[in-house]
Amino acid sequence: MGSGAITSSMGIPAAGFLRREDFGKDFFFGSATSAFQIEGALDKDGRGKSVWDEYADDEKRHGRNLFHPYGEDAVCHYKHYEKDVEIMKKIGFNAYRFSISWSRILPTGKKEKINQKGIDFYKKLLKKLEEQKIEPFVTLLHFDIPQALEDEYRGFLNRRIADDFRDYADICFREFGKEVKYWITINEPWSYAYGGYVLKDFLAPGLGQVDDKFDDDEKAVTNSDGSISYLEKENDDDAFLFLACRYSYQTLTVKMSIKNLLLNRSNSEPSDPQIPHDEDPFKYAYIVAHNQLLAHGKAAKLYKEKYQREQNGKIGITLVTGWFEPYDCDSQKDRDAAKRALDFSLGWFMHPLIYGEYPKSMCRNVKEGHLPVADLEADKSIIKDSCDFIGLNYYTAVYVSHRKRKYKSGSKPENNYVIDQKIKHHVKNSKGNSIGKQQGALGWIHGYPKGIMDLLLHVKREYNNPLIYITENGFDDPDDHSAKLWDSIYDHERVSFLHDHLSFVKEAKRQHVNVQGYFVWSLLDNFEWKAGFTSRFGITYVDYDSEKQERHPKLSAAWFKSLLEN
Ligand code: NOJ
Repeated sequence: MGSGAITSSMGIPAAGFLRREDFGKDFFFGSATSAFQIEGALDKDGRGKSVWDEYADDEKRHGRNLFHPYGEDAVCHYKHYEKDVEIMKKIGFNAYRFSISWSRILPTGKKEKINQKGIDFYKKLLKKLEEQKIEPFVTLLHFDIPQALEDEYRGFLNRRIADDFRDYADICFREFGKEVKYWITINEPWSYAYGGYVLKDFLAPGLGQVDDKFDDDEKAVTNSDGSISYLEKENDDDAFLFLACRYSYQTLTVKMSIKNLLLNRSNSEPSDPQIPHDEDPFKYAYIVAHNQLLAHGKAAKLYKEKYQREQNGKIGITLVTGWFEPYDCDSQKDRDAAKRALDFSLGWFMHPLIYGEYPKSMCRNVKEGHLPVADLEADKSIIKDSCDFIGLNYYTAVYVSHRKRKYKSGSKPENNYVIDQKIKHHVKNSKGNSIGKQQGALGWIHGYPKGIMDLLLHVKREYNNPLIYITENGFDDPDDHSAKLWDSIYDHERVSFLHDHLSFVKEAKRQHVNVQGYFVWSLLDNFEWKAGFTSRFGITYVDYDSEKQERHPKLSAAWFKSLLEN
């Protein structure tokens, strides 16, 4: 292990205009991680496989090794968890968000076979956190669904998973509920539905078909300057297709072809009548989204009925969205388009959770029969009002403009944008302003600190001022890209990113948003899904070449320390 010391020889940066007390004494400051991204020990102590074990293995077969030289060990948190908690303590964090690996507790995904060694690991971690007076925020599912359930009934495509998830949650509440007062059922259901079932090669289980590098001018949905046109109903699922842009690299124009999609589709039809076998793969994402809401609702309901009074905790869900700015803020159409974009990411889940129905713009734009409106109606009593708080993950913002587009083959979309190669690498709006002064290394983060406040105010306004925790915010600093320790630990860009975002959280609090905590992503450099270990989000550098995966705090860790002791 590295020393883990946060020394003044780094030249601890001042906390700027921020002070710990600006946030109130009950405010949580912490870092966030997830099981598959840091634990390693995939084959140890009886853990079962998750969809990510399978997906990463598959990548290997295709010649891409997502893992680093020490194989499947991620950053060995399973072994070094005590040191990691000490790092948090040194920084001064009073909370930690981590996830439990479902298949470490239940190797087959089912309640019949409990893996005691898995339970013991999280008990040890919780004990260590308690000793250090760090409040655990525990996510039950962070993308790593047990592979056994994927094999048996195709995971979240089947509503049977909601009962298995509830049973798994039941075991966690029973075993860990004495220590855990903040439960997050599911992390980013939008990303799982969209990244796993729409985008090709993006997130496990890897069933998506949309190739965001596909080149076909007629189907372009981003503008050449990197802004995005948000579509009105012209073709049923265009509005949904648009969402592909959100996680694509800004410098690429995102293009896709329905025809290509259908051609690539696998021929194997599921035999289970409960599993949809629709001609149109986009339907899958809507089903997966619904089943995640249902699983969340069942677990939350169980917690409230069986444990909450005695354990005195809270339960919520973590949602992700970017912020959407109208490309031309004087245009009502662009403003409406930006609102639609927000509905299609945040509203897709928030509306069912708060109002028991989908946003009107989704009902209008999504192809008939795709949005499971009737299922939501039937499951409304489980899903609606199931959250004590909302976790929000915020990273980026984009411009959005309205564009009407015909989708008949052979027809050109209305070309309502200016092609200007010079601004290709910047997202700019109609007035020439750029939204993101800071661009992340992977390309999808356009730092827009004000967006976090706008988002918080939006949630306060639209959804009755719920209790909110920022469960993730962070930056893949381009300086980290060289992956060399000395370049990487002086992460000035990250410090300014975090400082600016926190300043806007403070302002949102001043405007009476009920936001009570902030978790930086991430405590450690770690396994960034499809990007493997090439992208570093940590405030602690991990030396992947060292056998012990040594940890070295970066400037951003020192900055947090100075803020928190201030
Ligand atoms: C959100 C996800 O929850 C997390 O797993 C991921 O590493 C970060 N975003 C950064 O992409």
